[in-house]
Amino acid sequence: MSLRILSGTRPTGKLHLGNLLGAIENYKKLQGQDSFFMIADWHALTTEYESHTEIADNVYEVITDYLAGGLDPEQCTIFVQSEVPEHAELALMLGMITPLGWLERNPTYKDQLKELAGRELHTYGFLGYPVLQAADILLYKAVKVPVGEDQLPHLELTREIARRFHHLYGAEVFPEPEAILTEVPRIPGLDGRKMSKSYNNCIYLADSPDVVIKKVKSMVTDPGRKRREDKGNPEVCPVFFYHKLLNADQVDTVASECREAQRGCVDCKLEMAGKLNEFMDPIRERREKWVRQKDQVKDILARGRVRAREVASETMAEVMAAVGLRRPKERVK
Ligand code: TRP
Ligand code: SF4
Repeated sequence: MSLRILSGTRPTGKLHLGNLLGAIENYKKLQGQDSFFMIADWHALTTEYESHTEIADNVYEVITDYLAGGLDPEQCTIFVQSEVPEHAELALMLGMITPLGWLERNPTYKDQLKELAGRELHTYGFLGYPVLQAADILLYKAVKVPVGEDQLPHLELTREIARRFHHLYGAEVFPEPEAILTEVPRIPGLDGRKMSKSYNNCIYLADSPDVVIKKVKSMVTDPGRKRREDKGNPEVCPVFFYHKLLNADQVDTVASECREAQRGCVDCKLEMAGKLNEFMDPIRERREKWVRQKDQVKDILARGRVRAREVASETMAEVMAAVGLRRPKERVK
């Protein structure tokens, strides 16, 4: 059998180009293998718990974007974390054996506390975020986990937790998972920083062509190029990043004209926006189709849940037997 793969996305809103190029494109290469793509709604709740949430609506946005981006439910399993209760069970179990120090030292945790400073995140659930993520991965005995670089500490913790489990209970239940990092470098947003919902600098898969043109027009360019006569440096220009990605035929011309001040940024942006819209058209078409077929989306999730639970319940039975909470082979349905 091919390698088991699992990854997840927190449903905190519509997906943007950074998610598409950084994550979904990676997933697409892996579908067809034994792959599970999860919508991590419990993980969204760790930071969005403060009022009645919109997480359930966002679950639909994310799966619609997954499908629009080209994930094929015939070739992979798409499911919602909270619909598979074994995630919560295994997270609770792994919490028993995870030392607090491992979680408190986690660099992603420390960064997030700073970044989301307006929210009260000194909670048990937020500190335990990586324990839940370890449960997600280990439940499926995944060996490959496509993620961004920021998730590497969580994978390291997952391996440490698995080793500790094996050491304590003398049973090798879990393989040690490894990351598959995205090939595309950091995707710049409209302001040149990493594209991220919290920076409000995103182009969304659901954006209409007009919105895309408007957003691209507002993009920052080479900050050293103040006037049309100034020679530019395309390598520091986020507009050029997209030319490299989407305009392979013209990219050399764009670069040399920019360096020689032979092209203006407005025209350069319009050319790029055209390419971007061409790239996004089929995605938008698929998105509109799935938005109209919500019942089919529900079906996809229902099938995903069944398939995910098959695997998850097997693993959970092994875990309970290893720990000694249930006798081997005894299964509670
Ligand atoms: N923490 C991941 C993120 O923010 C999402 C996630 C949850 C995940 N569970 C996972 C990723 C399991 C990979 C595997 O991007
Ligand atoms: Fe960027 Fe194009 Fe302007 Fe050069 S001409 S700075 S590549 S937008």
